[in-house]
Amino acid sequence: MFESIEDVQNRLGAQGYICGKNIATVVYLANRLQKPVLVEGPAGVGKTELAKVVADATGRELIRLQCYEGLDEAKALYEWEYSKQLLYTQILKEKFSEVMAGARTLREAAERIGAEDSIFFSDKFIVPRPLLRAITSPRPALLLVDEVDKSDPEFEAFLLEVLSDFQVSVPEVGTFEARERPLVFLTSNDAREMTDALKRRCLHLWIDFPTEDEELRILDAKVPGIEQRLAEDLVGVMQRLRKLDLKKTPSISETLDWARALLALGADQIDEGLVRDTLNVILKYEGDIRKAHGELGRLIVRKAEAPKPAPAPATAAPEAKPAGAAGGGAQPVGPAAPAKKGTLH
Ligand SMILES: Nc1ncnc2c1ncn2[C@@H]1O[C@H](COP(=O)(O)OP(=O)(O)OP(=O)(O)O)[C@@H](O)[C@H]1O
Ligand SMILES: [Mg+2]
Repeated sequence: MFESIEDVQNRLGAQGYICGKNIATVVYLANRLQKPVLVEGPAGVGKTELAKVVADATGRELIRLQCYEGLDEAKALYEWEYSKQLLYTQILKEKFSEVMAGARTLREAAERIGAEDSIFFSDKFIVPRPLLRAITSPRPALLLVDEVDKSDPEFEAFLLEVLSDFQVSVPEVGTFEARERPLVFLTSNDAREMTDALKRRCLHLWIDFPTEDEELRILDAKVPGIEQRLAEDLVGVMQRLRKLDLKKTPSISETLDWARALLALGADQIDEGLVRDTLNVILKYEGDIRKAHGELGRLIVRKAEAPKPAPAPATAAPEAKPAGAAGGGAQPVGPAAPAKKGTLH
């Protein structure tokens, strides 16, 4: 259990997950109020990762239900283990013969077998799927229902039922009830709108692209060893790229991929050629790459040169930097305004 919102930030931070006060508040309340969280936002902004780090930080077992079109109750809740049932009938063949010995009609034989079928429909032959596992878990669990928007609306209705009372009835066996309610995180990429009923039941969290400051801290946590200057250049380009009208806006995962790629190339600063040659690491559509090529001048952030020992020229250099830019400050090249510095609370 988290003690405060700051405690959430610190403990998630210790897992390498950088979060602002908005995310930490929702996580804190979800724990306190035992409410599911519906996490929405663009791809790659840390929705799935959030559930994972909360599980780690709270010592809960992470149980993941990956949603997809056609996912049904059996795959999400439980299935009977037919192969095991079959194996048992083979092993118990002789016993069956004894049970059926003396039966005069097929009906009588079937009735005798039927009287014994509870042994085949017991929890011994149940394969628990994620929802049942979360309910029966002996350890406190965190249930991650990932990409719930990919499931069908009928499945969402069924999910609502499970989330409302955390108990499941298996007609042949009985009712399973959670000893301790799992913490539930549902993630969605907005492939379809979730129903009001689901939204009502959940705390809602929208995770957006990170601010420049957050993204720098994420880089620092996830790509140790990257030089501050390269990190700042790279994050500056990413922040500017996100302002272009792209088919697929690059996210945190692309920032991390790009940083690792640049390190692998031995780069210690960014220039136009390097960006042009490695844009395919961050942009996945040819049209987006072409658009970014046309904007390279505005995307690149040139580090201010360290002030040179004054050669005492008669006239001031035309491109003299403003006073605040000296000492490593970043200046955007071209008209694009520098991305807004966000604050973490
Ligand atoms: N706030 C953060 N702090 C540290 N790392 C982060 C943060 N947000 C995202 N990441 C990293 O970014 C990558 C993508 O995160 P994740 O897979 O959780 O995104 P997602 O929102 O679930 O994407 P998708 O919608 O495609 O499933 C992961 O490597 C994750 O570690
Ligand atoms: Mg995800």
